Amino acid sequence: MSYLLGLDLGTSGARAVLVDAGGRVRATATAEYPLSQPRPLWSEQDPADWWRGAREALRAVLARNGGSGAAVAALGLTGQMHGATFLDAADRVIRPAILWNDQRTAAACAEITRRVGAERLVAITGNPALTGFQAPKILWLRAEEPANYARVARVLLPKDYIRLLLTGEAATDASDAAGTLLLDLRARDYSQEVLDALEIPRAWLPRVHEGPEVTGGLRPDIAADLGLPAGVPVVAGGGDNAAAAVGSGVVRAGVVSSSIGTSGVIFAHSDTPALDPQGRLHGFCHAVPGAYHLMAVVLSAGGAFQWLRDTLRAIAPDLRYERLVALAAATPPGAEGLLFAPYLTGERTPHLDPLARGAWVGLTSRHSLGHMARAVMEGVVFAMRDGLEIMRALGTPITEIRATGGGAKSAFWLRLQADVYGVAVHTLAAEEGPAHGAALLAGVGAGLFADVAEAVHRGVRVAGVTEPDPERARRYSECYAVYAGIYPALRETMHRLTGS
Ligand code: XUL
Repeated sequence: MSYLLGLDLGTSGARAVLVDAGGRVRATATAEYPLSQPRPLWSEQDPADWWRGAREALRAVLARNGGSGAAVAALGLTGQMHGATFLDAADRVIRPAILWNDQRTAAACAEITRRVGAERLVAITGNPALTGFQAPKILWLRAEEPANYARVARVLLPKDYIRLLLTGEAATDASDAAGTLLLDLRARDYSQEVLDALEIPRAWLPRVHEGPEVTGGLRPDIAADLGLPAGVPVVAGGGDNAAAAVGSGVVRAGVVSSSIGTSGVIFAHSDTPALDPQGRLHGFCHAVPGAYHLMAVVLSAGGAFQWLRDTLRAIAPDLRYERLVALAAATPPGAEGLLFAPYLTGERTPHLDPLARGAWVGLTSRHSLGHMARAVMEGVVFAMRDGLEIMRALGTPITEIRATGGGAKSAFWLRLQADVYGVAVHTLAAEEGPAHGAALLAGVGAGLFADVAEAVHRGVRVAGVTEPDPERARRYSECYAVYAGIYPALRETMHRLTGS
């Protein structure tokens, strides 16, 4: 029996999964590490913590399935996207890594847009300059920490720093590389035009592979330490969203995922680089060779509902989500004319506005806490529908939606998604996130599966479906049309409130 390993270098910790030759998860293990916010808007991690967490999670998952180490055929890597790990000529870490959720780079983004040109940037890389992406972090270092900048010999994404330590190879995959803002999406390699405009040496960047390609073998000393055979192939893998899409079977046109966690993500596979010329959707390469994906990101999704519960806990310490959902469910669709804009931490899709703010709109004395809770949940799904609508307008086929994350574990969230999207929402038998997808990609690299489609066919199973109710879908379409007017009407007010 052969096994596969998947390693997800997340923001709160590393997660390892052990998958059997049938693509099914046999064991999982996690190891947490800290996140540091040394200044407002900053978000950093110590790469040494990643390395400790990665090895701890790998050792623990192998221990849970005793003796499986010797039979591991390949390891796939995935992780938080967009981060910058700066290394010197001896591959020593120069400063703490700057993460995807760091917001210090507004000036660098403006400079990138000026140097490359807004339209050209989207046309080449698929995206506008957003503060979280990697390239602006490089410009920030140049401007703000020149002594550190002078030592840089390599810049790696988080999971690729771990790859370097595991294999000695500087390599990445096309999906994660697309999140640097330096990739020519169509060429699936760096854009010399963008590199020249930003004066970033190509030699600093790792070579780009397709998701299932082998990027190197485990170094003998590391393999011995982990209890794995020396030389185990390490495949390129994918950014966490692309790998999660593989793990939930979003690997062909028409299949779209709707993930509600703290943030909300709508992820669509595309066979062609069908970009959003306005850059409201992220356009990245997929971890499926030659494929692309479009992605809408709602920053506060489950996070908005959690905010409501946590706020109410000040006076009701035992309040549980189930109670709030029951109150919401007792009010009618549309919450009797109450709407909620969930922009509690600004918004990416579709507004790309860090200054956007949340709002209940339409309050009357008739509205109860149940209406307010329902409006929050509906507002979150309306915000996600914004992403779907842009995809529809771009001609992205949407035939099946697969729910993942916390929003797939609640019948109420599932019903809401089916009714608001007006499309059947499917759930998966087992959802193990990005690490599972990385292990499936490893299985393709090791030759256990012919291609990603076969890996998904073996390892991913749809378990249930929630069909939209035509009457409620009609009602929600009316509400959504009103919802869509909230941000344009309140934008100015939201901006004036910032800083007051
Ligand atoms: C994607 C993004 C996050 C990170 C962290 O654009 O910023 O999903 O990958 O998980």
